[in-house]
Amino acid sequence: MTVQILQFGTTGQLGVELLRQAPGHDVSVTALSRAEADLSDPAACAAKVREARPDVVVIAAAHTAVDLAESETELARAINAVTPGAIAAAAAEVGAAVINVSTDYVFDGDGGAPYPETAATNPLNAYGRTKLEGEGAVAAANPRSLSIRTSWVVSPHGKNFVKTMLRVAAAGNPLKVVDDQSGRPTSAADLAGFILQIAPKLAAAKAGAPLFGLVHFANSGEVTWRDFAIEIFAQALGDQAPEVGGQKTADYVTPARRPLRATMDLSRLEQVYGFTPRHWKEALGDIVAELRAAT
Ligand SMILES: NC(=O)c1ccc[n+]([C@@H]2O[C@H](COP(=O)([O-])OP(=O)(O)OC[C@H]3O[C@@H](n4cnc5c(N)ncnc54)[C@H](OP(=O)(O)O)[C@@H]3O)[C@@H](O)[C@H]2O)c1
Repeated sequence: MTVQILQFGTTGQLGVELLRQAPGHDVSVTALSRAEADLSDPAACAAKVREARPDVVVIAAAHTAVDLAESETELARAINAVTPGAIAAAAAEVGAAVINVSTDYVFDGDGGAPYPETAATNPLNAYGRTKLEGEGAVAAANPRSLSIRTSWVVSPHGKNFVKTMLRVAAAGNPLKVVDDQSGRPTSAADLAGFILQIAPKLAAAKAGAPLFGLVHFANSGEVTWRDFAIEIFAQALGDQAPEVGGQKTADYVTPARRPLRATMDLSRLEQVYGFTPRHWKEALGDIVAELRAAT
């Protein structure tokens, strides 16, 4: 049976990848842009769910501007927590399951990584706090919900570290990249593929099934931002790769604090969903190839 998905968000990295890959799965996706469903308006978004009566709702939009969230905290809370909760409640009313996307920034990264889903949370910034509130709101409103925590999302489109590094290198400016924060890069395409693969299973699962709750999703491997930049240049620019200097987090002041090592444990992904993520370098290869093909 074709699973009906209602997707919030069409233009972000994940939203674009979900729409690209949906034709390869037994799903029918109705996707709502910001103009059609503004996540700062919980009642309007909940009404869209009641109207569409889907099998599964996927929340692919979020307030993702980590530094801006420090000064736009109420807006970030509405988009990342209040509205996901309202969407999840409306989904429960119409019998729909919910897939919400969260972040490794729920962890402080001060020790204990790689963190399993059961590890204590302690977000260091407003973005992480509002996403953690979102996880709680969604779970409380709908027992048939799953929050997928992901990290360092990259793709050939939108705003992300791969594109930023290549742009800065092309401008010929000297590069210094933080070398004391590490994590797991995640291909938006791989995350989208996982979501589309599990959506029919969630549509069929009853409340209490192990598929619901929380899961960590990232590509395998772990790297610092600096070494990630070095690999991006090696793959994209080969001999022309620029030098990448290092920088300490403490010397690179940003409005939002970031965890030094919020790396997530991925065992549950494998044990409960049977999904083995590929290495981030391999996923990066696909992104670089697509960017190269587009130039
Ligand atoms: N990017 C990362 O490194 C990262 C890391 C960990 C977790 N995550 C999580 O992964 C998920 C997907 O992230 P992403 O990288 O795909 O995000 P993204 O590329 O930054 O895109 C954000 C999306 O949210 C939409 N949006 C923002 N405010 C909105 C509003 N008020 N109403 C409706 N739509 C709104 C944007 O629409 P417009 O185009 O109209 O602005 C855009 O489609 C998010 O839940 C994010 O928190 C991301």
